[in-house]
Order: sequence, then C-alpha cells, then structure tokens
Amino acid sequence: MNLFNNNRLDLYERYPWLKITTTIEDYIEPCYYDRLLKEYVFSGKTDLQLFDEFLSSMTNNNYNAINALELGCGSGRATEVFLNKFKDGKVRLRLVDLSIRMLEFCRKRFKKTSFVKSDSVEFLSKTNDKYDVIFSLWSFSHSVHQILINQGVTSGGRYVRDTIKKVIINNMIKGSRLFIIHFDSTSEEQEILMSQWKKVFTLYNNIEIQSPSKLLLDEIFEELRKECLINLTLSHHEGEDIEYSSLDEALEIFLNFHMESYFNESPLLPIVVGELTEYFKNFMDNEGVIRIKPGCFTYNIEKI
Ligand SMILES: C[S@@+](CC[C@H](N)C(=O)[O-])C[C@H]1O[C@@H](n2cnc3c(N)ncnc32)[C@H](O)[C@@H]1O
Repeated sequence: MNLFNNNRLDLYERYPWLKITTTIEDYIEPCYYDRLLKEYVFSGKTDLQLFDEFLSSMTNNNYNAINALELGCGSGRATEVFLNKFKDGKVRLRLVDLSIRMLEFCRKRFKKTSFVKSDSVEFLSKTNDKYDVIFSLWSFSHSVHQILINQGVTSGGRYVRDTIKKVIINNMIKGSRLFIIHFDSTSEEQEILMSQWKKVFTLYNNIEIQSPSKLLLDEIFEELRKECLINLTLSHHEGEDIEYSSLDEALEIFLNFHMESYFNESPLLPIVVGELTEYFKNFMDNEGVIRIKPGCFTYNIEKI
C-alpha cells in the first residue's frame, strides 16, 4: 500500500474520520477530544497526577479563599482535579479557552466557575485580578504559537514577554504560583508532527530544537528568575509508551487530535498521511500495534 500515491478521495473512503474538520478557534468537539485522548504517564504518574502533586505543594498555605485561573481548560480534566483539591475551601476559578464549545462543555460540568472565551495571552494582558494560582495544561503553547505566527516572532515575542512580566508583577502576589505543562517538540510523538507543521508555517523551520514557544518561555522565565521576581523549577519528563492498536487509530489521533484536522482538506493530505504511516512503521510490532513515547516539560513557578 503506497499512501503517497493515493488521492484524497481514496483516503476519505479508507479513513471516514478524515471528514471530521474543525478550526483553530472551535478546536476539537469535547466528547471526541475525550475519546481520542490517550493517558499520558511520566515515570508512573499521569499528567493529572503531576498537576495534583503541584497543587499538594500549595495546600500547606491555609487559604481563606483561593483565586485561581485556568488557561485553555479544554474539556475540564485539570479543572476537575483543581476543584477536588480545594473542595472544602472558598474557591474562585476562572476558566479561559478560545473554544466556545469547550467552555460550554465545562459550564455543564462545573458550578463554582466563571468562563471567558479568549486567547490566553490576550486575557492575561487585560486582567486586573490578583491570582493565587494560574495553571495551564497542554494549552499555553497554542496561544504563544498562534501569536508568533500572526504577529511575527519579534513583535509577537515582545507581546508575550511583556504580558508574562506584567502578570508576574501585577497579577500575582508573593507566594502565588504558576504551573504549565508544555509539550516536548523533540519527543518521538511530536517530532513527526513538527515536520508536518513545518510544511505550512515557517515558524517551525528548525525542528531539531525545542518549539519556538518553549524557547521563548524559557528565555522569559529565566530573565524573571534573574531579576529575583520568581523561583522557577523547570523539569523534563519522558513519557511511557502510548499504545495505538492499529495504524488507523494512530492516524486518526495524529490527524484529528494533534493536528486538529488542519490537513484533512489540504492538497498535502496524501503526503502527510504517507509520511505519518512510514514513521509509525518504525514503532510497529508484528501484530500492528504502535508504541510511541511522548514528552513534556513542567514549569513550576512561585512569585517571590
Ligand atoms: C490540548 S487541549 C488541552 C485541554 C486541557 N487543558 C487538557 O489538558 O485536557 C488545548 C486547549 O487549548 C485551547 N486553545 C487553543 N488555542 C488557544 C488560545 N489561543 N487561547 C486559549 N485557549 C486555546 C483549545 O481550545 C483546547 O481546549
């Protein structure tokens, strides 16, 4: 089977899920997102357990009331962990996401929350509140990359830098915390994705190194650390293998989940499907099961 020679119509017939499409703003339909999402485990701990551990390090502080902000809440996986952790206290949690359907989904799930449809960095640039904790799992890079693509690296980078600095100085008090889970673009899982994005966005020209968002955030937080505004713990986590039972399952998850159907209607589709297929073969056993490792970074920040 040579997928490079396939035309798009053949692919739509073989993979009916290619007809599912979305936009950056709408993102993936929440139930479909939850269905496609695999469990991410890093040294025996899921991503949500890493977040839970971070929250445990905060619970020693006896908050009378906690004011929290989640950026890119999606279907509310981390939201639920947060609300469980602080279920006995007085909590004010604001959820921000670019996707209205993600927010609607969360509105049905959670009571003690308020909702803002916005780009994360834009929201941060405008907010006047003081937060005890701000968190973002697998989402902040979306905002940063969109800004770098839309405004260009220099002006977009300045906007992100100025906004983060303003948040640390104006919107966090001594002891306030910031937690980000950021993808590792050089992991087995992401490197093949980055080489697809590179075809359409010059931002990803150098895929040998970490993504532009990761490099920018490292630079910004390092500057803030040197200015004695924050304590920073940045950790790399290599994930345990994620298992895909078939080529079909792996393709659906990479095209419709990771790439948010971006290529499904593109003339590049046959090339993208072909390259993904070839790549997956390197990780496939005799039964056709594919195992690929993800990776991530956690930023654990305290305002000092
Ligand atoms: C990979 S999901 C992560 C969702 C959730 N935090 C989780 O861990 O399951 C990325 C989320 O970021 C949101 N998103 C994408 N671009 C965004 C932006 N510029 N500003 C805010 N949210 C954005 C998407 O709508 C989606 O809900």
